[in-house]
This record gives sequence, structure tokens and C-alpha cells, in this order.
Amino acid sequence: MTMARASVRYIVDDVDSAIEFYTRHLGFHLDMHPAPPFAMLSRGALRLLLSAPVGQGGGAQPMPDGRRPEPGGWNRIQLEVGDLAGEVATLRKAGARFRNDIVTGIGGSQILLEDPAGNPIELFQPVSGPGRGAPEGRDSGGAVAALFGRLTVGVYVVGVAHGGERDGFTAAWLMQVSFDPLLVALSVNPQNASYRLLSEGEGFAVSVLKQGQLDLARRFGTHSGREKDKLAGVRWRPGRTGAPMLEDALAWLECAPAGRMPSGDHDLVLGRVLGGQVLDPGARPLCYADTGDMDGSSALFPARF
Ligand SMILES: Cc1cc2nc3c(=O)[nH]c(=O)nc-3n(C[C@H](O)[C@H](O)[C@H](O)COP(=O)(O)O)c2cc1C
Repeated sequence: MTMARASVRYIVDDVDSAIEFYTRHLGFHLDMHPAPPFAMLSRGALRLLLSAPVGQGGGAQPMPDGRRPEPGGWNRIQLEVGDLAGEVATLRKAGARFRNDIVTGIGGSQILLEDPAGNPIELFQPVSGPGRGAPEGRDSGGAVAALFGRLTVGVYVVGVAHGGERDGFTAAWLMQVSFDPLLVALSVNPQNASYRLLSEGEGFAVSVLKQGQLDLARRFGTHSGREKDKLAGVRWRPGRTGAPMLEDALAWLECAPAGRMPSGDHDLVLGRVLGGQVLDPGARPLCYADTGDMDGSSALFPARF
């Protein structure tokens, strides 16, 4: 089943600090912030509209009887998580406020988190096991997504080029698979705009992202080259195959295509490593686990095995 997009509006007194909170801690992506009193965020199929209780028009205007929309209350969005205790510990460490401690009921455990304006967000971990928890389907893979989020993979920007066209996309599914010859395997979604350039080009370049580069992961991983030139405004240089490499990366690898195998909904592409360089030896690599649900994959995992 494909879940249609659902939108929820929250009234917040400071839109900027709410954006920071939802994108930094809860894996939301900022879709637009066209004016100071309004922003639109998304997380998978959920769209969150943030409105300040000021300004002309929009969702936060006073009612005819004089009542004013204000933050707070008890109605809330529910975000499903795979490891509630772990998420709560991380959020507490980051200074987030909770209204209560974890409570456990028949269907699972929950806690009420508050955004900076005091709006509640319910974090919910369903009971797992046969016949329990998420319904059949592909919309609620919280527990499975949490498990896969703990596989220790990095975050890369894969640059591709062909015939004067260039693109780059964020990838986490990349690993070394041979010493001699030195090979890496990359799993690519054929729906990516980059796929055609990867298929037709002479090779691909891997820019290894470092801690603190979530913005680059988001830029190349939540927009398509069909919508915008993701390389515009980013410092990059063409590698020996013409594929773009990011100047601010932790390291680069340049690869020539060495094979391809359809693998479910992705293609596994082998790359023979032509060369590479560590640019920032002191930096630590960015981990996929640090990206939260930036790729929206929690909606793609099966509900259970
Ligand atoms: C953290 C993260 C990891 C991702 N990993 C992969 C991956 O391994 N393979 C893939 O094909 N897409 C992956 N994506 C999705 C692509 O980056 C995304 O679909 C991108 O918009 C494709 O851009 P393009 O259409 O310009 O090629 C990932 C996205 C994010 C945010």
C-alpha cells in the first residue's frame, strides 16, 4: 500500500527554532521556508506546516470570536521509532524537553516530547512480534528500519558525468568487495536521475562525507538533478572520468564501471578503484545512523520479517 501524504499544522512562536528542532532531532526535511512566519517540512509521507501566530493570512489568524491560535495542547503527531529508550536518551542529551517518562500500554510504549514552542510529539514504539505492532504492508517499518539504521555504513556523494551533463547523489549503500583488483560495490536506484549518467559515463567518483556534513547529505540525497543543479554553489572538481568530486569531502575515490547486477529494486554496480585521496585526515566519517530518516526509508522497510 502506498500512503498518501498527510499534513499537520503546528502553531509555533519561533518558526526558525522549530525548523532547527524538527530537522536536527526528528529527521524532518525542510521543504520550504518562503517567509519568516511559515515553513513546510516533511518526513516520509508526513508533511508538517509550521505557522507563527502572527502575520497576514495563513493558518494562525485569530478566530472571529477573538481566540488566538497558540502552541501547546494535547493533540499531537505520533512518530514511530524502533528504539524508544535509545531515542529518548539521545534527545535528553541534546537538551530536549519531555512531558512525562516512557509509559507502556498494550500496543506499545510512548513518551511525549515537546518542540521548542511546547507542542507535543508522541514518540511511539509498537510491541513487536508475530501478530503485533505494525499492520501488514510497507508503511510502518519502524523496528526493521531501526535495525538497518544500525548497520555501520558511511554516507557518500556519488558524482557521475556524461557528455557535458553532471549530477551527484547521496549514497549509503557502498562498500569494498575485493582487494585484487580493488573493487567497491554501489547499490543504485534506477529511478535516480544519476542512473543514466552512471550507465553511460566513463566512471563515478565517491566523495566521503565527514561529521558535520549532514547538509551536503541532504542536498544531494533529498533533491533530484531533475529538479535542480545540486552542484551549483558547491565547491567541486571533475575527476579523471569527468565525474564531480566535492572539494570539502573527507576523501575521494574514483572508479571505473566493472559490472552490474540487478538487485531487487536497486542495481548493484561494481567499480574498479582507479585512485583516491584523503583530504582531511583528522576528520571522522559521517555515519548513515547520523542521518536519521533523511532518506525517508522508514516507510520503505517491511513491517516485519
Ligand atoms: C542518507 C541517504 C542515503 C542514500 N543512499 C542511497 C543509496 O545508497 N543508493 C541510492 O540509489 N540512493 C540513495 N539515496 C537516495 C538518493 O540520494 C536520492 O534519491 C537522490 O535524490 C537521487 O538524486 P538524483 O535523482 O539527482 O540522482 C540516499 C539518500 C540519503 C538521504
